[in-house]
Amino acid sequence: MKTIGVYTSGGDAPGMNAAVRAVVRTAIYNGLKVKGIKRGYEGMIHNEIINLDRQSVANIIQRGGTFLKTARSMDFMTPEGRKKAFNNLKKHDIDALVCIGGNGSYAGANVLNEEFGIPCVGLPGTIDNDLYGTDYTIGYDTAINTALDSIDRIRDTAHSHERVFIVEVMGRDSGFIALDVAIAGGAEGALIPEDQGDWDKVLKHFNRPGKRKKSFSIIIVAEGDEQGGALVLEKKLTELYPDLKIRSTILGHVQRGGSPSARDRILASRLGSEAVKALLDGQTSVTVGIVSDKVTYTPFDLAINGKKSVDPALIELAEILAI
Ligand code: F6P
Repeated sequence: MKTIGVYTSGGDAPGMNAAVRAVVRTAIYNGLKVKGIKRGYEGMIHNEIINLDRQSVANIIQRGGTFLKTARSMDFMTPEGRKKAFNNLKKHDIDALVCIGGNGSYAGANVLNEEFGIPCVGLPGTIDNDLYGTDYTIGYDTAINTALDSIDRIRDTAHSHERVFIVEVMGRDSGFIALDVAIAGGAEGALIPEDQGDWDKVLKHFNRPGKRKKSFSIIIVAEGDEQGGALVLEKKLTELYPDLKIRSTILGHVQRGGSPSARDRILASRLGSEAVKALLDGQTSVTVGIVSDKVTYTPFDLAINGKKSVDPALIELAEILAI
């Protein structure tokens, strides 16, 4: 192995730049060359491949987004698209890959390995934290702190006006962000796809016979919750409790941007470096993660199909602390 290709794919996440930097510098440190593939699989197909040296990744550790850019590629789903992609990798003498992204990105790297035998290692990059094989994904810590900052601000105005605020956070299929920011933000409710009883808990909160009525409340909802997003919930609650003063806020993509936190930079640096070491050790088709502060390798098949669950103790904690 002489040359490694690195790319970011799927939704961006703060810390992706730090991960690319760690891949590039660890590779160079070990005498390898590195090429950056722009726009993930799209750039692989369209031959957007650049040389990266030590300097190319200077001054990016603190930047959000991904300087390699990212995309979701439909063409890569086709055998013709993948053949083109592999031919471009060969043209650039790339003989191993580090893929930074989520499940879809891992699946792309897995199929490349199966069809063309190119060694691939994946790094977990998504703000949603819903990837199997690691306690935390790159970008998650920054995203929850960004969301929390907004929730603290909403809390000020909710308190002043004695209103109920429903705050929608990201998490298409999972409630990691919602549950953690609900606990950290002192919210009265967390609606997450993993908890089927969450709506009843919210209703219980507004039907508290004999209990002191809270003058304001914050309810956090994950965008993927089965009850619907913030606007749907606002309508439902208004119909049930016409006297409540309810407002909704959808935090949206602000959660995906911004300078990565120290935790994300360190996680990304560790994982980026370990990905190169894994390739040097002859590993392929695994994702690198950190579980209980130990570096772990999870086969792509397991990482893609395994379900990471939110901790039920945290669901209970959110409920206990919301009384
Ligand atoms: O990165 C994952 C995620 O943040 C999901 O929570 C969200 O549904 C999705 O990305 C939205 O991504 P986009 O708007 O880029 O399609």
